[in-house]
Parts: sequence; structure tokens; C-alpha cells
Amino acid sequence: MTENLAPQHEVQKLRAVLQQHNHRYYVLDEPSIPDAEYDRLFQRLKQLETQNPELITADSPTQRVGGEPLQGFTQISHQMPMLSLDNAFNETDMGEFDRRVRDRLGLSETAEIEYACEPKLDGIAVSLLYRDGVLERGATRGDGTTGEDISLNVRTIPSIPLKLLGDDWPSLLEVRGEIYMTKAGFEQLNQRALEADEKAFVNPRNAAAGSLRQLDPRITAQRPLEMCAYSVGVVDGGELPGNHVDILRRLNHWGLKINPEMAAVSGMPHCLEYYQRLAEKRNSLPYEIDGIVFKVNDLSQQQQLGFVSRAPRWAIAHKFPAQEELTELLDVEFQVGRTGAVTPVARLRPVFVGGVTVSNATLHNMDEVERLDVRVGDWVIVRRAGDVIPQVVRVVMDKRPEGARAVVLPKHCPVCGAQVERDEDEAAARCSGGLSCDAQRKEAIKHYASRKAMDIDGLGDKLVEMLVDNGQIQQIADLYKLEHARVAGLERMGDKSAENLLQAIEASKETVLPRFIYGLGIREVGEATAKSLVRFFGTLEAVREADEELLQQVPDVGPIVARHISVFFQQPHNLESVDALIAAGVRWPEEQPKEAAAQPLLGKTYVLTGTLESLGRSEAKERLEALGAKVSGSVSKKTDCVVAGPGAGSKLAKAQTLEIPVIDEAGLLALLADLEPS
Ligand code: IVH
Repeated sequence: MTENLAPQHEVQKLRAVLQQHNHRYYVLDEPSIPDAEYDRLFQRLKQLETQNPELITADSPTQRVGGEPLQGFTQISHQMPMLSLDNAFNETDMGEFDRRVRDRLGLSETAEIEYACEPKLDGIAVSLLYRDGVLERGATRGDGTTGEDISLNVRTIPSIPLKLLGDDWPSLLEVRGEIYMTKAGFEQLNQRALEADEKAFVNPRNAAAGSLRQLDPRITAQRPLEMCAYSVGVVDGGELPGNHVDILRRLNHWGLKINPEMAAVSGMPHCLEYYQRLAEKRNSLPYEIDGIVFKVNDLSQQQQLGFVSRAPRWAIAHKFPAQEELTELLDVEFQVGRTGAVTPVARLRPVFVGGVTVSNATLHNMDEVERLDVRVGDWVIVRRAGDVIPQVVRVVMDKRPEGARAVVLPKHCPVCGAQVERDEDEAAARCSGGLSCDAQRKEAIKHYASRKAMDIDGLGDKLVEMLVDNGQIQQIADLYKLEHARVAGLERMGDKSAENLLQAIEASKETVLPRFIYGLGIREVGEATAKSLVRFFGTLEAVREADEELLQQVPDVGPIVARHISVFFQQPHNLESVDALIAAGVRWPEEQPKEAAAQPLLGKTYVLTGTLESLGRSEAKERLEALGAKVSGSVSKKTDCVVAGPGAGSKLAKAQTLEIPVIDEAGLLALLADLEPS
């Protein structure tokens, strides 16, 4: 850019530009230039600073990561103590807090207090000291009075400005906030740790704490940390606005990140509404929160209210129900799913977590059991976040009782007794009983009847289990042979419900092909894949007959799914089952094999060589591809046709050796004229 400026001016200009981009990228989340351009500017600044070391300043964007590791952290004392918060666990606690605030302020029963509402981030509290707009020191909260100097580490966090934007800041400004790790950052970090055979972190909070505690800031720099400001401490040589929300907005204006969910509301009912709204949003937020902090917004009211021991009277944390709890693993049982997967399930001493009582949690597969090193009798941390099924996140090893029993994969299916197989390259163990296994049969029927498949109203899980258990259904098609009297005789059925059920089953015969294919329960074939298959092939016959290679031409179908589909349609019992359903009267409108019709060269591989005088290679390639052909660069046994123009050499020779059909450009033009839609 500014090649002809004097170095000191170019350095200044680069720093200002980089600072702006950094702010847009990390604080506003609105990058304005490509990463490559940022890198280029950054490298230029580095180069100038290497050539002119006297120009380096502490607030230069190049100075985030320091040199040598520290021996230890220095203690610092907070000029203004860093307080903690009182907790509220329910609406009664919140009501009492509001009443205390009004009483102390001498306000009436009906007066409405204005509260600032912010998510309570689950991270580590820090204090950042800015002198004349430049970051001078970062410190942990410690015990509130004495903390540790973590300046070198905070400097590596990109959302912490080394220099504040603008120039209207107080000459001394202490910003307080939370350093945290996003859920995505945490996942990535743990993924990397796993790949490097290192220990994974327990949760984002621990990961953030561990990252800040590094004596070597180069390590901290590699951790995906962020910082969000939530208040100020010492302020000197300048004025700040008179309420909390405006103060935070001002901090944001100076380049600090604040929580975008922050809001000001009047009166307790609105606080509770905000709490509910965020509770529902909690799991979709990119970071972990464990409650909502409510603060009296007006600073003069805050001052009037003051503090008790270590917490302000003007703020409270309304906690969400814990998403992790400790409980005892009573047993591990094995469940058999639709595809025969044998899944270990933890039976737990019931525990209230994430707002419900949990007594079972999935352990996924034996790899997971081994990874967790979980044994029957162990104390485990159970997590239930939102609607996600409860998980065992880890074992508390210190509490392992003597005689805790190892979890062993059964050799035989607990339902049908068939051999359990475990593939080398697959996590799941499977019952080899196929549809002769009652468990697989039940699951297959449940799936066939489910809403996204044949949508048979009234055929719930319990009913399917009863029907299979008492022998009324052996295979899916038997659904269409159910007799009124026997169904009505089932527990909790009766005449009317039996009538409704049989009607719903009858109605399901009239369906569409994608639902039917999805309902067959082919491994890895979900709704979307079933739709793609129909769009591509048009008819069930075409899907049935397709080989793996052709199946892979379907959008979204990779080698594994293609293999599952092909294997499914090779197994006699599956073909019988499909035929039986069709014989029972299941039908669907004939679909147009849209893409197949429009792509007559699907599955064919062409090679272009030599000069194509009128078309040119790229147009020829495009038009062949539009008809479904693959255009490859080299001739092999898999090539279906070579188009050779003048000057063709080795590829033509190879085609001749392999006896692959060769056409010239005129031949290609004729082919295109024939196949392209007019
Ligand atoms: S205000 C005097 N606001 O919660 C007020 N704290 O339990 C002091 N925290 O140590 C804190 N998000 O680390 C406040 N929006 C937020 C917060 C928050 C998380 C943490 C903070 C503090 C702890 C108190």
C-alpha cells in the first residue's frame, strides 16, 4: 500500500488498519477483508519493525505473543476488590431480591426497577488495566483482593485490544470481564489433543482456566480464548455514563467485546421473561452460560445499595438448572437397535439434571466405554443439555469403589442369542441375527411406521412390541394382515382404537416412493438420501438394480452409503420383505426419473484428446458433463469412449490398445445433437 511513506508513518498507518480489521474480525464478527490480505499487511508491519526495531511499541499488533516463558506468576492486589455474586435458584429468590432492592431504595411496592440483564458466562474473571488507552496489565480475580499477573497471556487473546479505539477514554480504565472458550473452540482443542494423544479437557471452563494458567504465553496464544467485558473497576481521568448498559456500550465503542444478548428491562416480571427466553436459547448459544446476571442499571441506585461482605446488593445471578450432575452407575445393559447395533446403556441412580430426572444414559459403543474407562459401580458425571439425550461425560476416578466391575461386550445378542460381531473398522458391535432377531424386527417395524416414513398414526412403540411379542407380526408386511378381533383384544386397545389403527394402516398403502425407501430402514439412508435416490433413479426397480458405482453418482451418496444400499438389495430376505409389501398393496405414483432422463450419459467416462476445432475442449467437457458423463484426463479400462481430434497422441494409442471406442469431433457433435434436449 503506502510504499513511499517514511517507515514510522507506514508503521503507524498499518497498525491502525490492522487494529480496525482485528476489531471487526474478533469483536464485531464482521470481517471486512480476506484473511490473505490481513496476513499481507501484518507481514509488511513485521518486516518494517524488523528493519526498524526502534519503532516497535507494546501495543503493536505484532507484539501479542511474548518471548520466553515465565518462572511463575507475580501477585498483584486489586485496588478495588473484585466481588462475586449472590445466587438465586428460583422465582421466589428473585422476587425477594427485587423486594430488598426496592425496600433499600425506599421505593413503593409498585415501583419498577430497571435491571440490566446479561448471560452469566462460564469462564474466568479478569481485570484489564488500560492506561492512556494502552493495555498495561491483565490479572486474575484470585480471591477478589489479590490476583495473579497474567498480562502476557491476556495479550495473546485477539478480542482484547492492546490499544483502545478512539481517544475519549479515561486516562486510567480498569475493564472487568470473563475470559472463556466457545463450544466450537473447545471441541476443536479437544480434537487436537486427542489426535496428539494428549489428555482432553473436561469442559470449556476448565480449558479456559488451564490455558490462562500457562507460564508460556506461546501456548496460551494457540488456545481459542475470548473475552467479554461486563463491568468497570478503577476509573480515573475521565467520565463514564450514569448507567451500566451505557457503560458497557461505551466499552464496546472502544473496541471491547460485550455480550450481544445484553438488555435493559423494567420490573421483575420482565426479568423472569428474559431468563426464560435465554434458558430456551441456552443450548444454541456458541458459548456456555450457567445463568443470568441481573444488575440494577442506574449507578446512583447501585451506590445507594452498596455491598454486603463480598457481593453487591444491586446484582444477583439467577442460575439455570445444572446440566451436569454426579451419580452412581448401577449397571450397564446392552440394547439392540434397528440395524442390529448393540449399544451399551448406563443404568444410573436417578439424578435431577438439566431440569429432568435421568436414570439412563447412552454409552454409544464399546470404544466409548473404553475411552471413559467406565465400570459398574463407578461414580460418573452425567450431562443433559437441552433436548440432547443424557450422556456419561466422565468417571470420577477418586471415587471408584473396590470391586468396580468391567463392562464386557456380550458374545451373544441379549435378545435373540445370535452371535455378536464387531468389525475392526467400525465402532458398533452388531447382532448377526438380522430380522430373525426380535429386537431388530421391532425396531424395523417402528421405523417403517414412523412419521417420516409411512406415518401410521396410532402404531406406537409399545404396540409394535406387543404385536411382535404375541406373534401377530413376523415381518413388516404382516402389518397389512392384522385382524380386528386380535388387535382389539390387546391391552388398552378396544374396538374403536383397533378400528382406527387398521384404518391408518390401510391408508398407509397409498404412499410416495421416497417415504417407502426411507421406511425400509437401509443403513445410513435418511429422508434426504431417499429423496435423492428417487430423484435420480425414478423407480424402485432402478434403485434395486443399481450397482455401487452407479449409486455413487447420486448426489450425497458416497461409497459407504452406496455399499449399504447395494448390500441391502442383495439380501434375499430384504427382497422378500419388499415384495411382500408391494403384494400387500403398498403403492406410489410412478415418479419421473428426472435426472436420469436428462443425463443419458450417466456412469459413462469420456476422455478428450487432440484439438477439437469447433467446440474446444472446455465446451465439449461441459456439454458431456451436462449429460451426466464424467470427463477424465487419462485413458484406462474404465474409459467408455475417447474423443480424438487432430494431434492426438499417446491417449489415442492407449485407447486403441485397450480397444476403447474412439470418435472424432464430428462424431461427438452428432452424439450431442442426438442426446441434448432440443
Ligand atoms: S458481574 C459485582 N456479570 O460470575 C459484579 N459477573 O459469580 C461482579 N460472571 O466472578 C460480577 N458473567 O466471573 C458479572 N455478565 C456477568 C458475568 C459475571 C460471568 C462471573 C464472574 C464472577 C462470577 C460471580
